[in-house]
Amino acid sequence: MKTPPVAPPSNGPPTTRIEGVAKVTGRADYTADAVPPNLAHAVLVGATIAHGTIATLDTTEARSMPGVLTVLTHLNAPRLDKASVFPLGAAGSRRPPLQDEQVRYRGQYVAAVIAESLEAARHAASRVRVTYRETPPAATLGAGEARRVACLGLLSKALSGDSHRGDPDAALASASLTLDAVYTTPREFHVAMEPHATLAWWDDAEHLTVREGSQWVDGAQDVLAVWFDLKREHVRVLSAFVGGGFGSRLSLYPHAGIAAMAARVVRRPVKLVLARSQVFHSVGNRPATRQRLRLGAEATGRLSAIIHETTNESDRDSHYAEQGSRASESAYAVANYRAENSIVSLDIPVPGWMRAPGEAPGSFAIESAMDELAAQARIDPLQLRLLNHADSDPHSGKPWSSRRLKEAYAAGAEAIGWSRRALEPRSRREGHEWVGLGMATAAYPTRHAPSEARVGISRDGGVYVESRGVDIGQGSYTALALIAAEVLGLPPSRIDVRLGDTRHPRSAFAGGSMLSSSLGLAVHGAASTLRDQLFDLARRQPASPLHRRSREELSVREGRVVLGADPAVGVDFAALVSGSGQEQLDALHRTHPTLISRLSGPKAFTTMAAVRTQAAGDSSCYSWGAQFVEVAVDEELGTVRVRRMVGAFDCGRILNPQAARSQLLGGMTMGLGMALTEAGHVDPRTALVVNGDLGEYLVPVQADVPEIEILFVGEPDPSTAPLGIKSVGEIGITGVAAAIANAVYNATGRRLRDLPLDLRAS
Ligand code: MOS
Repeated sequence: MKTPPVAPPSNGPPTTRIEGVAKVTGRADYTADAVPPNLAHAVLVGATIAHGTIATLDTTEARSMPGVLTVLTHLNAPRLDKASVFPLGAAGSRRPPLQDEQVRYRGQYVAAVIAESLEAARHAASRVRVTYRETPPAATLGAGEARRVACLGLLSKALSGDSHRGDPDAALASASLTLDAVYTTPREFHVAMEPHATLAWWDDAEHLTVREGSQWVDGAQDVLAVWFDLKREHVRVLSAFVGGGFGSRLSLYPHAGIAAMAARVVRRPVKLVLARSQVFHSVGNRPATRQRLRLGAEATGRLSAIIHETTNESDRDSHYAEQGSRASESAYAVANYRAENSIVSLDIPVPGWMRAPGEAPGSFAIESAMDELAAQARIDPLQLRLLNHADSDPHSGKPWSSRRLKEAYAAGAEAIGWSRRALEPRSRREGHEWVGLGMATAAYPTRHAPSEARVGISRDGGVYVESRGVDIGQGSYTALALIAAEVLGLPPSRIDVRLGDTRHPRSAFAGGSMLSSSLGLAVHGAASTLRDQLFDLARRQPASPLHRRSREELSVREGRVVLGADPAVGVDFAALVSGSGQEQLDALHRTHPTLISRLSGPKAFTTMAAVRTQAAGDSSCYSWGAQFVEVAVDEELGTVRVRRMVGAFDCGRILNPQAARSQLLGGMTMGLGMALTEAGHVDPRTALVVNGDLGEYLVPVQADVPEIEILFVGEPDPSTAPLGIKSVGEIGITGVAAAIANAVYNATGRRLRDLPLDLRAS
């Protein structure tokens, strides 16, 4: 632990995001910014009950108000196709909006006012009068019966996340040390900076265009095609700039369908921007969870059994399982293991994926439990992790593709000063505060979904990359430019990356931390093919100074094909393209050609199947990390202040250290919020999220965020060669809440098992 491991020299150059200037100068055109000619505005009216039916709906006054074009309700809205096969993109809205009088959750849209101005629409929306026949809702985890997800139908069984190895019950019964504890996490919200917004217009009755800040334009296209009974290729979805997603834009939510309906009815472009309060009721959320963890171990602390049971709240229609066991299944060397997932179906909106779904709450439970076990065994919590280090994936039995977890532990421990941690809690006092250190393991899988990319050069020598993949802020514009730039020997600023348009080749979604590793390979392949085409042109064109040279002699530099031995001899890309007589030269690369060919049509479930198939390679590929924090707890007030955070990560080769660091800072900050401040408080009588705004749903602000140190300890991963990269987007949040809870225990001797942590709770 003397010298922190040195980051491999192969990490890419720290690069400022190429669209950064456009973003900070306001030139980046977000959906809500757009003001096309003849624009109409839509404002939504949400149900004020959670369960029941609409009794009366009076829009007379609203309709007669100045500037109002129409009011859509279930009584007059276009009928949308109720497909029997739900595209995965509709996970957030299996029931198309405004189709019947049933109210299934509080805030469900019951009317939309479309008007000449936003102000007119908003005013008229306040005059839509709705009465309801209400049935008391069940709205919290305790208000319903838990049912095993695996028993709810064939599809759910496959996706339930349940797993089993060895005989955990027997191992638990004979264990020297046992722990049986329940951990809870509340409903949490993404609250991305940009509220969801849709701009929709119809070119004619058969052609729909939708601008929507989406993480997955393919999925959105599928849903809209099904709902409006259109040919897939007649729906265009555009998502060039997105102000944060965190999972809340992976599936299409009802507001987008309403905007498209409204545009069809008024025959004008319609813009719909959600109010901040509406993102708390209609675009998914992490469901509240209750996790029971049972650990069995030898007296030394060596694990013999883990049983991880997760129950989460869900809506009535879907079987959304939060799967906390994703954080424990492969984490430690333990032969006997069982995971079971259950849901409680309630009168609430459908939950959705939120940054590290499963792993985020799951890592709070397992990493807290490991800390409790360390206290029982009276050993250092980091020693306990090393004692139970898994040399191969205990779940699949496969070798790790790469795993510098021990290096992450060592680097993080060194940086935080772990050797100063007292084994005995409540040992370190500074003035009126108790101070403690805590740590946790962080992990997130590296997945792959089939992807395509086109890389081309126009006659003027301009290089472009095209794909449907979306940059939701994670830095894909820059990452993909770096990949193409490296292959073509150009600075990344010379590459025009065009993303988030369904007219481009298909892509993995911007989720599951898989876009760079999936789409990056496609861009690398396309750029390599294009380079070979340029080499061939240089060798074949009689006017070229490289005529009749062999491919092996050629190289690329600064937009020219050159002789490797003498780079002064060469020819411009532009000259090669115009010499070829073509308008442009391009290459398309598909990472998994046979899978991609099956991905067309509205059955995008295939995409997820493909993801799982690709995860089943010869090795098990994860990013790894270690979270270390120092907290100070005020003795009288019980307030917890995080003083320092250190995250050491093995995310393989880092394409762009600047962007990767930002992602990890963001993830760790989100973990800080999860630990200390973020909780949706649900009124059990009304199902209302009573703190549904940014004044009361507290995401960390600058004053809450301490010094955060990010360390990279990875090496190029062979399973993603030639890129060597692993997942970055979600690992940052994993383990943070546990590390903070563990530090609070070390500081005070109080073990808190409920998030957000509250020392005043008994
Ligand atoms: Mo992430 S929850 O897959 O956007």
